[in-house]
Amino acid sequence: MPISIESLQSAFIGVDTEYLLADGRRARRRYLDSAASSLMLQPAWKTAEAFLRHYANTHSELHFGARIATHAYAWAHERTLAFVNADPAQYACAFIGSGSTGSINRLARTLRAVRPERKTVLVSEMEHHSNDLPHRKHADAFEHIPLIGDAPSFGCIDTQALSRMLDRHRGDVRYVAVAGASNVTGIINPLREIADLVHAHGAWLVVDGSQMVMHAPIDMSAGIDFLVFSGHKVYAPGSPGVLVGRKDLLAQAEPDEVGGGIVDDVSLADYLVAQRFPDREEAGTPNIVGAVLLGAALETLMRVGMDALCRHEDELLRPLLQWMTKRPGVRVYGNTDLERSPRTGTIAFNLQGWDHALVAAALNDYWGIAVRNACFCAHPYVREMLKPELWELDGEIDLETPAGLAALERRQGMVRASLGLYTTTEDLDLLKQAIDALLAEPGRYQGAYKLNADGTYTHRQHNPSGQSLFDPVRELDAQLAAAGAR
Ligand SMILES: Cc1ncc(COP(=O)(O)O)c(C=O)c1O
Repeated sequence: MPISIESLQSAFIGVDTEYLLADGRRARRRYLDSAASSLMLQPAWKTAEAFLRHYANTHSELHFGARIATHAYAWAHERTLAFVNADPAQYACAFIGSGSTGSINRLARTLRAVRPERKTVLVSEMEHHSNDLPHRKHADAFEHIPLIGDAPSFGCIDTQALSRMLDRHRGDVRYVAVAGASNVTGIINPLREIADLVHAHGAWLVVDGSQMVMHAPIDMSAGIDFLVFSGHKVYAPGSPGVLVGRKDLLAQAEPDEVGGGIVDDVSLADYLVAQRFPDREEAGTPNIVGAVLLGAALETLMRVGMDALCRHEDELLRPLLQWMTKRPGVRVYGNTDLERSPRTGTIAFNLQGWDHALVAAALNDYWGIAVRNACFCAHPYVREMLKPELWELDGEIDLETPAGLAALERRQGMVRASLGLYTTTEDLDLLKQAIDALLAEPGRYQGAYKLNADGTYTHRQHNPSGQSLFDPVRELDAQLAAAGAR
């Protein structure tokens, strides 16, 4: 049964949580930090909770609980493959660690073992560190693929440059690893075109789908050999990281991790690794509850339809991006021409004359708007985009003094607003109002903060601690009392 986006928007845990703000108001939070982690889809959570009544370990059909767990865990794999249009005859799905990082490290080690004769790995300049450092560490030779255009308006991966690099390293490129979409600007890469180029050179394509999975359809048949994403970025926090990959290639190396569950037989002298997927890739007891949660979240999104979700988000993003690019005092990063540089619902920006940390703090403290700031684990990309701006600062800041250098350091970052299924026009209107207010009365807001030694800002009067906002011990005490524990 298809599900409408509107009917699902309030079905997220914590979307309406209220906090006391710096001006004394209590307000519902506006969660614009989905690129870091999305909120929990309540029906998926409830499905996982219901499964807990039957909880048992997998890999057995003997008692009812084990039978249910084995079936539900297999269902989660099957739904994941369906979600990314992966043919189960060709691809396997494995749940690895708690996010994309574990899967990418695993892939970098595995593909090196499968193809040691090819030494070079190519990775784009827009990558999150998790899709950069594991390849740097495990490749024998490594290069960055440039992006189209100039800072601060970079577009997607420069496919002509990629083609030249593939020619230059002819016969030696093990694989090319690229983000489906940037975690900083949301800019989407042309995966099909990249796949064609990569395959024409006999290399493989690894796609980091972390920032696509909640925003846009992913189609393995576009020529993706390996895909990774994090369950916590697709409305299922607490669920595992995902690796979808070609079985014929994965089968060529012994599984990177060994232990229980991946073997057919073990003697004191030897062991026989199972050929079955996903078993051979998932040593140890898996995150079964998290997998059920993920399967339920992905199934829900399939019923909504990722094309419909993508269109819906585009309708929210377009006017916001247009407003931001026209608003004097706001600088948006990455190419903002959506026809040439399509993007997911993510915008990185700065306000002229403001440190990113101060903007993020004020948005939270005065409007309850949750955003993220700094370099978002994509330092090379962010720093390259900021270069022209930092040159502009040359006259404004005295770089000969320690205070000047610290001030410069505080400008090395951005503010990021990222949308989710629960984001409404009202949320984005509030963001616009807040930006207007900050730009109209900078002194009023800036004067309310003290600068800390690490470049962060703290409100002078209103700085509730994490524990005062949510005390896990107090919550546990209440839960234990409710359970009748004495
Ligand atoms: C594009 C991208 N890749 C990889 C990661 C790493 O994901 P995780 O922290 O879930 O391992 C992130 C997280 O923000 C990301 O945005």
